[in-house]
Amino acid sequence: MSDEQKDYDGIQYKADDRMPAIFKLLLAVLLIWGVCFMGYYLFSGWSSEAEFAEKKAAQEKLIAERQQAQQQKQADGSAGAPAAKASAVDAEKLYNDSCLACHGAQGSGGIGPALGAAQPFKYGRTEAELTSSIADGRPNGMPGYKNDLGPDKIKALVDYILSLK
Ligand code: HEC
Repeated sequence: MSDEQKDYDGIQYKADDRMPAIFKLLLAVLLIWGVCFMGYYLFSGWSSEAEFAEKKAAQEKLIAERQQAQQQKQADGSAGAPAAKASAVDAEKLYNDSCLACHGAQGSGGIGPALGAAQPFKYGRTEAELTSSIADGRPNGMPGYKNDLGPDKIKALVDYILSLK
């Protein structure tokens, strides 16, 4: 039994066997890749702080845009006609519950006169006149709603009527 080739219970250790070429290749490739990898992070100028700052700036811009859109919406809402849209959900339901029976769907008319923008309004179509028509009623069959609906709901209905076409 030589030094180079020992035999342990039938398992042979061959000291002079060379490392398989595939491992050498793997080692070389990994070394090259490692150098490139480190080089990239050292010299490309990339840093996690910069990436974070960039993402943060984009996020803040998005939030600012959303807030601006929100404020725009509120500003539009307080400036007349689009306000009807803002409260349309409530007002339309209110209208359907209290007024539709006589004035038809979306003010198309019935027992009571049609309430579209194209209709002639006997008692006027300004905010004050509409409020008075709804709150106090009108002689030929229009009940007053002062006691049933508060001023907020009457205002919503006025806006709703003004939003009708
Ligand atoms: C019982 C039926 C009836 C109900 C319910 C009713 N109305 Fe009327 N409404 C009338 C009649 C009839 C007139 C016409 C009155 C007149 O000519 O004097 C009228 C008139 C009006 C007018 C005035 C129109 C114009 O030509 O100037 C408005 C505005 C109006 N109604 C809104 C409403 C709203 C809003 C509601 C719901 C809260 C409602 N009405 C519920 C029957 C009704």
